[in-house]
Amino acid sequence: TAPNGDISAGPWVVGTEPAFPPFESQSDSGELEGFDIDLMQAIGEQAGVDVEFESLPFDGLIPALQAGTIEAAISGMTITEERSQTVDFSRPYFRAGLAIAVAADDSETTSLETLEGKTIAVQIGTTGAKMAGTVKDAKVSTFDSAPLALQELSNGNADAVINDAPATLDAIATGNIDGVKVVGELLTEEFYGIAMPKDSPNLEALNTALAELIENGTYNTIYEKWFGA
Ligand code: ARG
Repeated sequence: TAPNGDISAGPWVVGTEPAFPPFESQSDSGELEGFDIDLMQAIGEQAGVDVEFESLPFDGLIPALQAGTIEAAISGMTITEERSQTVDFSRPYFRAGLAIAVAADDSETTSLETLEGKTIAVQIGTTGAKMAGTVKDAKVSTFDSAPLALQELSNGNADAVINDAPATLDAIATGNIDGVKVVGELLTEEFYGIAMPKDSPNLEALNTALAELIENGTYNTIYEKWFGA
């Protein structure tokens, strides 16, 4: 960003943790793809600025924003009060929530309470990890990505995974993970936002572009591409 905050000075380097389909993932040829990727590209086009993605660990995104090495982060990131102390969020762009996944033949686990004393696999630094930490006597195993946490459950090395429902449901539906089901009600209602450094001069342009894409139907087209009509 130029010293005067001129957004045309782009490109915006946008951080993402790319193992979270259908929001962000890497195709066989290594290209980033997903709902977040398409949305961020469209925002860049609408705002007239180039977008360059940088893959980072999920728990490295906020530090990178604080250090100013990236201009934004789009990563299925839930807007939370805690994160809002250190970064600014765009307007919400997606409604999600946490779900419990267990082995397909588990008929005992139906809620957070029934996870007491169990082993719960989560992705490090996520709202799911935080929720798992509230379960009495649970052993929480942390992984660098949600697919790795789900694999641990599929292998029988964990009793449950707490993860964003849309991501877990996608992993089951696409066959990326076997022998796993979602149980009970959603544990939370969460809204994703695009994070920017505190007081970024680009936040307003980002929000304006996002609002225009919602208004002109582009957001819907991208939504339908990744989630069906
Ligand atoms: N929504 C959850 C959070 O903000 C999980 C996001 C994980 N995103 C990812 N790209 N791995 O903590």
